[in-house]
Amino acid sequence: MALSKNESFPGDMKVTAPQEEMGSKGEMAPCVAGQNVSMTTARVLTREELDKISGERTLVSGFKQMKLETDAKKNWDLFYKRNTTNFFKDRHWTTREFEELKACREFESQRLVLLEAGCGVGNCIFPLLEDDLNIFVYACDFSPRAVEFVKQNPLYCPERCCAFQCDLTKDDLRTNVPEDSVDVVTLIFVLSAVHPDKMKLALQNIFRVLKPGGIVLFRDYGLYDHAMLRFKAGSKLGENFYVRQDGTRSYFFCKEFLAELFADAGFSSVANDYVLRETVNKKEGLCVPRVFLQSKFTKPRQSDGS
Ligand SMILES: C[S@@+](CC[C@H](N)C(=O)[O-])C[C@H]1O[C@@H](n2cnc3c(N)ncnc32)[C@H](O)[C@@H]1O
Repeated sequence: MALSKNESFPGDMKVTAPQEEMGSKGEMAPCVAGQNVSMTTARVLTREELDKISGERTLVSGFKQMKLETDAKKNWDLFYKRNTTNFFKDRHWTTREFEELKACREFESQRLVLLEAGCGVGNCIFPLLEDDLNIFVYACDFSPRAVEFVKQNPLYCPERCCAFQCDLTKDDLRTNVPEDSVDVVTLIFVLSAVHPDKMKLALQNIFRVLKPGGIVLFRDYGLYDHAMLRFKAGSKLGENFYVRQDGTRSYFFCKEFLAELFADAGFSSVANDYVLRETVNKKEGLCVPRVFLQSKFTKPRQSDGS
């Protein structure tokens, strides 16, 4: 079956392109026993799913885990070598889901400065650039190939875009983006690819370039998303953290974990909700439950604290 352009990955179920409309916001259900933080989930698991998730106790060896961390950039770069620009589909839903992308200007003619952190090949930014002429986009990724694909896109022009290579957990964004200068940061299916121990470093890095009052728009995999339940034995790296066959990794967020992470990096929470939807594969008659976490966090203005 041909691989669709979607929010899934090679290790995930291959399904047709997802419907863009969102399902209902999740009902909160108690989490499975054995997890050590109090969490809410957006999905109630079946007995079988619960057994599968809680039965998986063997973790990938420490040695292999270290290698995956060392090779994280290389593995994503190889992902783009294999898939070029053909994997993810353009994300046309961002302005619908995040009204800030259109509405957060202080005056109408203000040019909005955006940073797409972990831009991949630009599936998030190019629809925005096409849609809104008064926007300047910084776009970074640690994969050199991904950045090159962004630069080769016919919609890329230096007057409206600046793409650069950057490991969000290591390289200071201020080398390319002035401090306190960005109105909106988009973080779309990126933090899940970062080791949980380094997520805070990425957020602190973003914090420095965001304007006081600026906002981070976040969307990523939620706890018990279908992709999480499909990982085979031997793919577990840690709690809610897995490795795909191609060496790229994925974390599945519960809202409490994310809220704490952003708070620790200095942000204030504006919204933090699960989004449920179903992905349909008409050909195979399959309907799979997807869970995403969609959130907004701001950098407080100095006056906010007083
Ligand atoms: C699933 S893709 C999402 C791309 C894009 N945000 C979009 O919406 O299409 C995740 C991206 O995060 C990038 N990435 C992962 N870890 C990173 C890091 N530490 N620093 C910068 N980019 C990273 C990967 O190279 C990959 O392009």
